[in-house]
Amino acid sequence: MNYQHYHERSIADPAGFWAEQAQAVRWFRQPTEILRALADGTHQWFADGRLNSCYLALDHQIEQGRGEQTALIHDSPVTGGKARYSYRELRDEVARLAGALRELGVEKGDRVIIYMPMVPQAAMAMLACARIGAVHSVVFGGFAPHELALRIDDARPKLLLTASCGLEFDRVIEYKPLVDKALELASHQPGHVLVLQRPQASAALLPGRDLDWQARVPLAAPVEPVPLDSGDPLYIMYTSGTTGKPKGVVRDNGGNAVALSFAMRHVYAMRAGDVWWGISDVGWVVGHSLIVYGPLMNGCTSILYEGKPVRTPDAGAYWRVIEEYGVNGLFCAPTAIRAMRKEDPSGELSGRHDLGSLRHLFLAGEKLDSSTHRWLEELTGKPVHDHWWQTETGWPVTAPCAGLEGHTARHGSSNRPVPGYRVQVMDEQGHLLGANRQGSIVIALPLPPGCAQTLWNDHERYLRSYLSSYPGYYHTGDGGYLDDEGFVYIMGRTDDVINVAGHRLSTGEMEDLVARHPAVAECAVIGIPDAIKGQVPLGLIVLKDGSRIREEQLQRELTASIREQIGALACFQRIATVKRLPKTRSGKILRAVLRKIANGEEVATPMTIDDPAILGEIGAALALYTRAS
Ligand code: COA
Ligand code: AMP
Repeated sequence: MNYQHYHERSIADPAGFWAEQAQAVRWFRQPTEILRALADGTHQWFADGRLNSCYLALDHQIEQGRGEQTALIHDSPVTGGKARYSYRELRDEVARLAGALRELGVEKGDRVIIYMPMVPQAAMAMLACARIGAVHSVVFGGFAPHELALRIDDARPKLLLTASCGLEFDRVIEYKPLVDKALELASHQPGHVLVLQRPQASAALLPGRDLDWQARVPLAAPVEPVPLDSGDPLYIMYTSGTTGKPKGVVRDNGGNAVALSFAMRHVYAMRAGDVWWGISDVGWVVGHSLIVYGPLMNGCTSILYEGKPVRTPDAGAYWRVIEEYGVNGLFCAPTAIRAMRKEDPSGELSGRHDLGSLRHLFLAGEKLDSSTHRWLEELTGKPVHDHWWQTETGWPVTAPCAGLEGHTARHGSSNRPVPGYRVQVMDEQGHLLGANRQGSIVIALPLPPGCAQTLWNDHERYLRSYLSSYPGYYHTGDGGYLDDEGFVYIMGRTDDVINVAGHRLSTGEMEDLVARHPAVAECAVIGIPDAIKGQVPLGLIVLKDGSRIREEQLQRELTASIREQIGALACFQRIATVKRLPKTRSGKILRAVLRKIANGEEVATPMTIDDPAILGEIGAALALYTRAS
């Protein structure tokens, strides 16, 4: 099982290759039609296959003799709680919750929104939806009511699941008032809100609409998994695009199961019985692929961690978990490592723990800088791998395939394309570029199984956003290059998306909000480098003539507005007032130029700029911030 051989075969004969990989999945009906090309450029995998993702994650594992093996470990340094669920216990909990959903009228194809903290019930809720063919959409708890309302109106859920609160190391964040507010803002109303009351906060329940989880779920009759078509949606994951309206990325059941089975074994080198730790939140794609579906469908023990890398209680938190549960492999975001390094630069805290069980560390979500990479490798003495993927793909596009022979890893690169992906680079005119030339990173169609082939309620937007720029290719939105040996280097987004502490955010959405301020004539929001979070947003603002507002006050008001509308996770805390923004002669703001200045890149004065002198002024304003970081 050699990497090169696998990759070549997957490109030369995608249908043959994935037909073989699909054998690793326990289908209710084995697919005979492997790859169907549709006229609009999208593809469908395993069209006539029937399966159930919850069955694969739980019942099938029990049938394989793993009933008593721990499936899920909940570790919560913020509450002090720890819990273990065997595959059998988890299946029983999920089957009852699925029964409760049914009793509340949820059926196959209905949507369910899950707005919950990192409690086991969040994973159970996802699996319970999958069991009955309902489509879950988990919304990250850090999003404000306005963002939740947008998702409610788009997904039109029959039911919303939440908890009374989430927890930070120093405070309780009540979720229910946020849900109530979102439902005031939303036009669509779910039939019910099922509320998990946690001891740290008691949520008020609205009679008739709100229901108590503990009062209903334990009494519900368990239900069996229902057979679904491969193409039936498993979940919708909203992610930021370039506008204020989030994109509802749709994942199907069949492609996801085959892709994650492949990825867990061949990318992450995990075997049934291994302990895997996906350090993320169920509100992100990583939480779906690497906390819930990937590890469980492959018989691993998965850790669901309700804490931070630092302050819960200190920068040794990750090392403690690795030792306590004998973690064999993990995923985390570089921002978490940078936060730990800042507080424990000599790695003294890691030295207090036995990391002997750990085989590999995989990092993604944002660029892994080489200094952090080296620090982590030296500290742990283990291979640290950068790999690259997106919400849309659902599993890695480039990675060192640690489970395949002949795999190689290279510092500074997110490594080579995983089997199934043909990654190339194009210039703006759609010409393929050779080695070491920087441009837009694209993936040749067909995308492998698991990758989204549509957006919820908006297939046209999918075609427009991903397939129309370069016919025959999927447009990733990332820029970068490939070296002579096919290693991929991701240099950052080419659109208005930024990455704050591993969280993907739209600067376009922030601009909409900033522009609403009465003192703002125009603005551009860009990402600037940040030592811990990778990037943070900065608003470049042109004030209206005659405006007397002081910069500090404007900043406070804008910070409050973005916090209220998008959420605290946006970390919008910096603005710079400038006299003008760089524009083309036709009046378009030159955002790509702003991004380059912010990244400290050389900027050639664009031919189309109306006033070249402005670049110096912007450079000076940005330098204040980039030096500060
Ligand atoms: N629910 C409610 N609020 C949340 C939240 C959640 N699930 N997650 C974050 N927030 C809030 C925080 O309370 C904070 O609010 P504040 O400004 O009132 O303090 C704000 O959002 C920013 O939080 P965070 O990004 O966590 O910043 P931090 O300074 O507290 O911690 C890090 C910095 C680097 C430790 C933290 O960002 C981190 O652990 N990052 C790793 C993220 C990750 O694993 N991403 C993987 C994605 S694949
Ligand atoms: P998300 O959809 O939230 O997973 O974010 C995906 C985006 O994060 C990608 O399009 C990249 O811009 C960025 N990203 C993810 N992994 C990496 C990586 N290893 N290196 C650089 N950027 C990354």
